[in-house]
Amino acid sequence: MRTDSPQTIYRKDYTPPSYLVETVELGFDLDPARTIVANRVTMRHNPDSDNHDIVLHGEDIELVALRMNGVALNPGEYIVGTSTLTIKAAPLNAVLEIETLCVPQDNTTLSGLYVSNGSFYTQCEAEGFRRITYFPDRPDVMAVYTVMLRADKEKFPVLLSNGNLVEEGDLPDGRHYAKWEDPFRKPSYLFALVAARLVCQEERYTLQSGREVLLQVWVEDGNLDKTDYAMQSLKNSIRWDEERWGLELDLDRFMIVAVGDFNMGAMENKGLNIFNTKFVLANPSTATDVDYAGIEAVVGHEYFHNWTGNRVTCRDWFQLSLKEGLTVFRDQEFSADMIGTATGRAVTRIDQVRTLRQAQFPEDAGPMAHPVRPDSFVEINNFYTVTVYEKGAEVVRMYQTLLGRDGFRKGMDLYFERHDGQAVTCDDFRAAMADANGRDLDQFERWYSQAGTPIVTASTKYDAEQQVYELTLAQRCPPTPGQQTKQPFHIPVAVGLLGADGFDMALNLEGETTVVLELKEAQQTFRFEGIKEAPTPSLLRDFSAPVVLEYPYTDDELVHLFRHDSDPVNRWEAGQRLAMARLLRLTAAVQQGAELELDYGFIAAQRALLLDDGLDAAFREQALILPSESVVADQMEVVDPRAIHEARQFMRRTIATVLRAELLTAYAANETPGEYSPDAISAGKRGLKNLALAYLCAAPDDHVLELAHRQFEEATNMTDRASALVSLIHSGADVDGALQSFYQQFEREALVVDKWFSMQASAQTTDVARVRELMQHPAFTLKTPNRARSLLFSFCNGNPAQFHAPDGSGYEFWAEHVIKLNALNPQVAARLARTMDRWRRYDPALQTHMRAALEKVAGAQKLSNDVLEVVSKALSN
Ligand code: TRP
Ligand code: ZN
Repeated sequence: MRTDSPQTIYRKDYTPPSYLVETVELGFDLDPARTIVANRVTMRHNPDSDNHDIVLHGEDIELVALRMNGVALNPGEYIVGTSTLTIKAAPLNAVLEIETLCVPQDNTTLSGLYVSNGSFYTQCEAEGFRRITYFPDRPDVMAVYTVMLRADKEKFPVLLSNGNLVEEGDLPDGRHYAKWEDPFRKPSYLFALVAARLVCQEERYTLQSGREVLLQVWVEDGNLDKTDYAMQSLKNSIRWDEERWGLELDLDRFMIVAVGDFNMGAMENKGLNIFNTKFVLANPSTATDVDYAGIEAVVGHEYFHNWTGNRVTCRDWFQLSLKEGLTVFRDQEFSADMIGTATGRAVTRIDQVRTLRQAQFPEDAGPMAHPVRPDSFVEINNFYTVTVYEKGAEVVRMYQTLLGRDGFRKGMDLYFERHDGQAVTCDDFRAAMADANGRDLDQFERWYSQAGTPIVTASTKYDAEQQVYELTLAQRCPPTPGQQTKQPFHIPVAVGLLGADGFDMALNLEGETTVVLELKEAQQTFRFEGIKEAPTPSLLRDFSAPVVLEYPYTDDELVHLFRHDSDPVNRWEAGQRLAMARLLRLTAAVQQGAELELDYGFIAAQRALLLDDGLDAAFREQALILPSESVVADQMEVVDPRAIHEARQFMRRTIATVLRAELLTAYAANETPGEYSPDAISAGKRGLKNLALAYLCAAPDDHVLELAHRQFEEATNMTDRASALVSLIHSGADVDGALQSFYQQFEREALVVDKWFSMQASAQTTDVARVRELMQHPAFTLKTPNRARSLLFSFCNGNPAQFHAPDGSGYEFWAEHVIKLNALNPQVAARLARTMDRWRRYDPALQTHMRAALEKVAGAQKLSNDVLEVVSKALSN
């Protein structure tokens, strides 16, 4: 075990910076083996601080020279700690000249300045800038940057940084330079540079104001046939931000750069967004519909950060959700608006609910649970979580639900009016929403301060004589680490009531059919008058709050909602409830060795929905997808991954057998002939068609296998090709030939090779031994996060029945690779470490193996703070 315990940082300890920075002039002499960084920074004492020490952060860099106000400092005049450089009792005005050395080619952490495929890239959020130069690397220190880049011209022909290019030219010895100026003050985490061999697709674009801007998408040579969709998404994002929020691009030039080695999705560096290739590169033959949707969302997300994150930034990292929750909400709304139709919007909403249940609810119920605005952390990189991002977006969405679209827009306008150019807090955002609408949002603060998923329990009473329907809502929230008891939340609960005819009842004099109830107490009763018959309640419409809703629905009521609810999200939800009840019963039956049976009533409801041509294909697809194995696991007292898998497979097989004819019809009716288009209607058809194929392959016969093979071979796009291959893999048929030909066809497309690894890792028949074999493939490497994720994460997180093998071999494999990754890339290692978060929920025999694996990791040499925080929280009581 490590002896030096890592330091916990607390939100309550925030103090303003002792010195502010006016300007930063950076000079880079770029060399993969030895890069020299010269940093001239103008500082002045912050009148809001009584501390007169200058504190700079620095990590993994070598100090070469340090001057203050033109005079070289002697080693006695400053203190270099493990991660800081301090100048005690500094003058009120200080110009520091700092020269440091770093070794980008050895930087496998992908934080700071690093090399990917021979070129230079940076990643500074959250605390990577300190790996480039000494600096007060905290988001409340904002400055104007000028950057001079110098590098070999042949190897690094393209030199980019934030803002505007002001000068470029040649230097002796085959080198060249470029000088960039960013006119906007920014925190250090938004700094970026790229020095690379790249090509670009570019376009001039006219803003609504008439101003012309230059848009560029930079990629490696050979990928220019995959940049159209990112460029189109960027233009759509710019237009949408103008139209929906009145926010204009503030620069004359906006660049996106794609890089193959990247820890996360993408990064919003001012004017120079750097992206994981996965969220830029797409053409019909390499990318699926899901990939296209991901590109649109992430391009939007990073672009929208320009206002929500960059112009108004975070005071400290505890406020991360201020920019991330808000920006996820904005990208969600963008994607929904791009589809336009009501069902299209609902389908995007269903996806969001699925993500929350699949990933955020478990986080909220595990050892890493934290509020949307955390109170403490050991390693900030561990808090780029589904809670901060997705639950944070839900919190923002609730303002809009409570205040209405117009009220929310007023709040946004006031937020920018008050805070443009500032580093602020989540409280500042809430205050803008409250003040712009004259509303009291004090209680709403608990969404930021309390962790855990609230449980709302509903009960109803109908008085036929008085025609009064009473709905009682009660709320509670389970304890989370460090928070034993919780205060009631302010919860918007959108409600509709369905009559026996399937139509919505009018709920008030205005004739509204959905009302938003505000639940603020532990328990409240709401009365509806003039209700002429006992209704079926449709509760939490459009998933109006990130809570678990409990109501003792009968099967008949659920089928009624599944058939008729005017709210598509709740219509889907009714289907999920029906399926979940059956999955849990079947899982119990598997455990008891009892006979497995699926009632015809359920299948009939599925059948009716499948055949309902009045519904978008995309919605039908959503409604027919069974709850995932991990969502079923969350409903069990003691999780039995193998029994869940068997139960779910039985259900899929049974549906496939009984509805064979209907599935074949749906398969044929949803072809998308002609040129590929990723639009929502076509993608929805492919989605339904491929879901039908997946079902059919769960109970395959020769005809079905031949359909799948034909689709695999004749597909004109990756969605159809990859779907067919996955269905074949899961059918249990021999797919070696298909896998081989797929690899040969796409071995030069890294993102497709990732898919190839991933679909094998999550195959039912893939056990640890097979994963180890796949790791021997020459294309496998742990150093590229996308590749590591495609195999390791797909197996450990996406193949529960095999990962949880009774002999513990999956856990041993996990421990071994968390430790290996820890030495290369702590951020990625810590994400893999999170796989074991909820180990206490498994049966005691599995728990014993899991504890051993966790302890093995916790006891490893040179453990990063990232991994240490995750495993020690998992092991603590
Ligand atoms: N701010 C980025 C986003 O959400 C997230 C991000 C990109 C990030 N790279 C990172 C966070 C590296 C931590 C570390 O758009
Ligand atoms: Zn973001």
